[in-house]
Amino acid sequence: MDYLEIEGGHKLNGSVTISGAKNSALAIIAATILSNKKVKLTNLPNVVDIRTMLKLLEMLGAKVEHNDTEAIIDCSTINSTKAVYEIVAQMRASILVLGPLLSRFKECSVSLPGGCAIGQRPIDLHIKAVEALGAEVTLKEGYVVAKAPEDGLVGNKIIFDKITVGGTENALMAAAMANGVTEIVNAAKEPEITQLAQMINLGGAKVEGIGTGNLKIYGTGGVALNFNEPIETIPDRIEAGTYLCVGAATYSTLTLDKVNVEHIQTTINKLEEMGCEFDIDKNSVTIKPAKKLKKVNIITSEYPGFPTDMQAQFMAVATIADEESLIEERLFENRFMHVSELNRLGADIWLKGNVAAIRPVKELNGATVMATDLRASSALVIAALSANGVTKVKRIYHLDRGYDKLEEKLSKIGAKIVRKKE
Ligand code: UD1
Repeated sequence: MDYLEIEGGHKLNGSVTISGAKNSALAIIAATILSNKKVKLTNLPNVVDIRTMLKLLEMLGAKVEHNDTEAIIDCSTINSTKAVYEIVAQMRASILVLGPLLSRFKECSVSLPGGCAIGQRPIDLHIKAVEALGAEVTLKEGYVVAKAPEDGLVGNKIIFDKITVGGTENALMAAAMANGVTEIVNAAKEPEITQLAQMINLGGAKVEGIGTGNLKIYGTGGVALNFNEPIETIPDRIEAGTYLCVGAATYSTLTLDKVNVEHIQTTINKLEEMGCEFDIDKNSVTIKPAKKLKKVNIITSEYPGFPTDMQAQFMAVATIADEESLIEERLFENRFMHVSELNRLGADIWLKGNVAAIRPVKELNGATVMATDLRASSALVIAALSANGVTKVKRIYHLDRGYDKLEEKLSKIGAKIVRKKE
């Protein structure tokens, strides 16, 4: 199994080009199912999750040409509507094929995703959304089996009693080819939702209220969507935020290129509170070191609030701040597995329920640590880069799921990081 060996304690310098957003790319790949012509996607991050999603489409019968950051997907050849356990168990986001398969083919079965390291993560809201559009859903042998009415899904009001990113995406894609108008109340407002809604608009269905919590979708009534122009994935705001935390924790000056500054504003604000300074351009941002990192208080929430996907990375930075920081996780009940690993590096973090108190330590020291989920893993890399001595980060397949060319990008800015085999 691969692991990363990181020699920490060095200042970094230079620029990092941010890749396309994994979470956005997953949704737009799923949305290509709504078309029966070729769709070109650009600026895809070359990470395992994207390859898994493309493989899922191939297993459904789609033809996929993929090379690094681009893919041409032809869903005219889809001949199966079953998303099998073997793929869904690898990646929860596979559930995103539910809406588009049902909308276009009027039936599908998708394996239940099963357990997940960062909490229960049920899919009840996804199911309620398609049921609101007339689908009949049953659970059979571990699969969600969904059937639309004979003439297709029917537009309706979908009210989410909890904000869900994936649920909103599935609702949008289900509504795209439905008959009539669908209203999504309490929709997620993440940039990934905006990109998906804009894509659906380009494809021929009409979405109103983009960027708000109320979306109105005028379905095409069974007509497949058509994408003449390539769809360019938006920049990855979580990858960008992670590199900003790398800069903060190592007291370095780093420039990130190809970012959407608006999407990372909360992250920038929090790092400013911690004493970092920023130069901001249209598509790039430079972080300059704090004189001494200050404490930070964070409560995770839905966009535009502080992203849960940045919580672990901030915890890594806060370990070496001047006073105690508090981080409250409001979205996922079990998203603190990085705590014990950060403590192995010399951090002093205490957990009570969903709140972590990060008491400052003078410095971190290298050790062997284990990655537990995607963002927890990047927190360990950040901590390792600021720690004295050598850290081995094991189980890095988590990192490979979501960070494009991680060692290459970090090495380019001067980090001493190598991938090794056990
Ligand atoms: C997406 C992101 C993930 C991010 C999360 C929150 C992708 C591929 N993943 O995950 O990186 O951390 O948004 O920003 O885009 N919930 C239910 N029932 C459901 C669905 C969700 O109770 O049917 C709950 C979840 O358990 C969680 C909350 O709603 O507590 C938010 O989850 P959701 O927004 O759906 O997250 P994902 O779409 O899975």
